Amino acid sequence: MIDNTASHSSSRPTPRRATARAGAALSGFARVPGDKSISHRALMLGALAVGTTRAEGLLEGEDVLATAAALRRMGVGITRDESGIWQIEGVGVGGLHAPDDVLDMGNSGTAARLICGLLAGHNFTAILTGDDSLRARPMGRVIAPLTEMGAQMASRDGGRMPLSITGTNDLLPIEYVLPVPSAQVKSAVLLAGLHAPGKTSVIEAMATRDHTERMLAHMGAELEITETDEGRRITITGQPELNPAEIQIPADPSSAAFPAVAAAIVPGSNVYLPAVGMNPARIGLFDTLVEMGADISRENPRDVGGEPVADLRIRARSLKGVIVPASRAPSMIDEYPVLAAAAACASGTSVFEGVGELRVKESDRLAAVEAGLAACGVAVWTEEDRMVIQGCGGPPPGSGEIAANLDHRIAMSFLVLGLAAKNPVTIDDVRTVETSFPGFIETMCGLGADITAAETADPSKGAA
Ligand code: S3P
Repeated sequence: MIDNTASHSSSRPTPRRATARAGAALSGFARVPGDKSISHRALMLGALAVGTTRAEGLLEGEDVLATAAALRRMGVGITRDESGIWQIEGVGVGGLHAPDDVLDMGNSGTAARLICGLLAGHNFTAILTGDDSLRARPMGRVIAPLTEMGAQMASRDGGRMPLSITGTNDLLPIEYVLPVPSAQVKSAVLLAGLHAPGKTSVIEAMATRDHTERMLAHMGAELEITETDEGRRITITGQPELNPAEIQIPADPSSAAFPAVAAAIVPGSNVYLPAVGMNPARIGLFDTLVEMGADISRENPRDVGGEPVADLRIRARSLKGVIVPASRAPSMIDEYPVLAAAAACASGTSVFEGVGELRVKESDRLAAVEAGLAACGVAVWTEEDRMVIQGCGGPPPGSGEIAANLDHRIAMSFLVLGLAAKNPVTIDDVRTVETSFPGFIETMCGLGADITAAETADPSKGAA
């Protein structure tokens, strides 16, 4: 048995610098790691079931290991066997124990916000913290509804972590209209609602990823979903006995996005990505790439444990600019940085509308994409919550030195851009790539990409 405990990138002292260069076409087959959103939920909902949940294909990235470590600290038995299957010994709804130390959620907003939902229904105090990136992110969006339900929460100014939460066994069921389209906030309220007597409802004007709802239904929770004038209304009946489940986790479409875009923009490429999650609330990037002229085929569509899955084949083709409407943002919220790499190579102008939420991700992604593209010689600007990119109609100049700002997706997006640029692109530190895509550089090199990485205390040396 391997007993994985959380560690996160900031605990490794030496930055890891990486450089991507244009080279051969990408070809072959790559197995992308398990879906991060579903992996967090498998651990958390498995922890609340009565009996043993088994999860196959769990993402063994630092974000998910932080969730596992937090749950273990609250009395949940979580182990992984030699064949890679994870077993979660559920303690039942309301059955967690008070943690005897601060819960360190690493780099993960999903872990932090969803755990708050669980903790709201437990009559003890817990303190949550995270790395420099997570401690800068807004938690007010979960503090507001969970406080309304009866949890007591205190945070640093601006609703930032560290925060403390004292839950209660007497949570009030509420009806909550999401002020921002956020699956994390929706899920935090639904997880708290699981602990409250009666019915808790969340209403979302724009549909966000629904993995929590699908998994709760799969585990026997009473869930009602209706379309109303205000949007989608999800109602959960609290205090159920959840059944343990066998959960098969598909490859993460948000991680598949990196080899997919690389294959689309590196001339001559032909790449196959098996068993990628095709949940309609997650695939805005692939629809957008097809609108840009990309050659993407979805083969063998099937259902795996309540989630749609397909094998993707991506062949390079010249792309044209695209206008991405705000209404599509929730279905591709994590994919804009890598879409920016595709837009930089396309002919014509691309406009990403309604992307203000990107300012509060692992970094301010609008600022990071703007700075990174500008450093690579691509014309780009932001106007309030929209981004405009002037495509180069082929390889962008490159040569940029990119600051990843503890943001895994910024690091991976600019490595992808470097594979199609005239000159190499260097990322100052790729350690946080381990949060969501362990082995990313090896996977890309396995497809023929030219990416080198080296640990270096002196950022002017290594990986050149
Ligand atoms: C996630 C929801 C999204 C996404 C994040 C994962 C989830 O965040 O950006 O990477 O698993 O629920 P928001 O809910 O803040 O949009």
